Amino acid sequence: MSVTQNSERVQIGPEADLPEGFQTTVELDGVSVLVLRHEGQFYALRNNCTHQDYPLQGGEVSMARITCQKHGAKFELATGKAKSLPAVKPVRLFRTEVEGGMVYVSPL
Ligand code: FES
Repeated sequence: MSVTQNSERVQIGPEADLPEGFQTTVELDGVSVLVLRHEGQFYALRNNCTHQDYPLQGGEVSMARITCQKHGAKFELATGKAKSLPAVKPVRLFRTEVEGGMVYVSPL
């Protein structure tokens, strides 16, 4: 599957091909953005922990939060807020949309 990019939004793929629990990254606005599906919803957030700039991709997702694998900080997927130490700053969020069965991500 190829990822199409323009300056406004990035096409991730058909919703039907993106199963629960999938994670992928795309480049958007010059940063790496983590896109994932959790409990049927799509979420997109900057792929960097705000504690020490470690990639969030691959972190465990549960209770609508993703856990940084480095030191265990948790971020709320819907708001980007840091919910446990050692991170205190929120992670940047991006918009996800499903249109015509395709999933897209764009800057908020
Ligand atoms: S780098 Fe993520 S918790 Fe430290």
